[in-house]
Amino acid sequence: MIVAIDGPAGAGKSSVARRLAHHLGFQFLDTGAMYRAITLAALRRHYGAGDADAIADMAQRTSLILHDNRVLLDGFDVTGLIRTSEVAASVYLAADNRRVRERLVHLQREFAEGSDTVTEGRDQGTVAFPHAECKIYLTASPEERATRRHTELQARGEQISWEEVLRQINDRDRRDMQREFGPLRRADDAIDVCTDGLSTEQVIVRLESIVRERQQKLSLV
Ligand code: DC
Repeated sequence: MIVAIDGPAGAGKSSVARRLAHHLGFQFLDTGAMYRAITLAALRRHYGAGDADAIADMAQRTSLILHDNRVLLDGFDVTGLIRTSEVAASVYLAADNRRVRERLVHLQREFAEGSDTVTEGRDQGTVAFPHAECKIYLTASPEERATRRHTELQARGEQISWEEVLRQINDRDRRDMQREFGPLRRADDAIDVCTDGLSTEQVIVRLESIVRERQQKLSLV
């Protein structure tokens, strides 16, 4: 069974999807980590916006393995290195590249082949797994996402206003939704879950009950 969770940045998808996978005994696929890893590889080679072909060729040759919550790029553990703001700011180098997307979608399908999987990203229910048995569109209002992100950044000692965080979130939404290939879009058959005012625990309970209901309907258990 494939559970595809899509939604905008900051809706809490990663932590919720990871823990949901654990509860269900499914494997977990963080597709944002794949785009981040290819971006890191591109930055290391000093590629920029004009190097789309070179980035796509490099992505073809690069080995990318996600295992046990670790990300291995050509055999090296880059799990921490892909979480920097430099990588986040340049992720369009990979995410806006059609051939990179094709390669990563291929790897995502390989990853899920024959195993129950919770996958999380922007295009999982629309492009990567249009036949997923369960699709969830996880959202939260931009204001709520800005508040969560602002609290996180303050805890890390970063000085930034709430208004600036909100502006960054709105920019990212626009970029994710207007992407030519694999834009963020709710699949027609996805179930909407808005996490405003809910704790992570409450969201997981809600998602788990959606998946279990779906399993029963499809007689998968
Ligand atoms: O979920 P995240 O913030 O780690 O994702 C990093 C970036 O990758 C995000 O800005 C959009 C892009 N992305 C994508 O284009 N398609 C996906 N399936 C997942 C992420």
